[in-house]
Amino acid sequence: MGWFSSDIDTFEELFIHTLQDIYYAEHQIKKAMPDMIEKASDAELKKGFRMHLKQTDGQIKRLDRVFKLMKSVPQGTKCPAIDGIIEEANEIAGEIENKTILNAALIAAAQAVEHYEITRYGTLVAWARLIGRADVAKILNMTLKEEKATDKKLGGIAKRKINKKAAATKLKKPTKAEQAENAMLVAAAGIPAI
Ligand SMILES: [Fe+2]
Ligand SMILES: [Fe+2]
Repeated sequence: MGWFSSDIDTFEELFIHTLQDIYYAEHQIKKAMPDMIEKASDAELKKGFRMHLKQTDGQIKRLDRVFKLMKSVPQGTKCPAIDGIIEEANEIAGEIENKTILNAALIAAAQAVEHYEITRYGTLVAWARLIGRADVAKILNMTLKEEKATDKKLGGIAKRKINKKAAATKLKKPTKAEQAENAMLVAAAGIPAI
């Protein structure tokens, strides 16, 4: 429950609450994406992220329209799930130096975001139909299709090249000092003769 939300008593209120949840999520995604675009070093991935950022703007506009159709004020409610997904993505990206590995991590994080959106929009489309709002369901379904297409596209790039390149990445050759240190550690951890 968000700070500014009232209690949920009806199915329609639950629908509006979920709408506010994805509204908040889309705004957080919009804020997080420029950083992902900057970090991606594969041209196709960068382009894909850029395109989805544009789509995200359109998706927010669609949500504004849906709020209006529902005679509700467009507003977000804090969604800890998307905050967690984005926080985890930032944390892992901060730990990766290798650009090829980073691309694989970025795709994995972006797909986690897409899957979250797919589950939310999937629910909203089904619920909109149940409350007799086929008009709203139709609009939300357009976004659902975009999220699914994005997930598929990212999965395709990952499978076709990014993951293969990441898997082929070899560890950096240790320096002489590191080799000496490793040798000392191995000797120190040597199994004593029985
Ligand atoms: Fe989205
Ligand atoms: Fe998305």
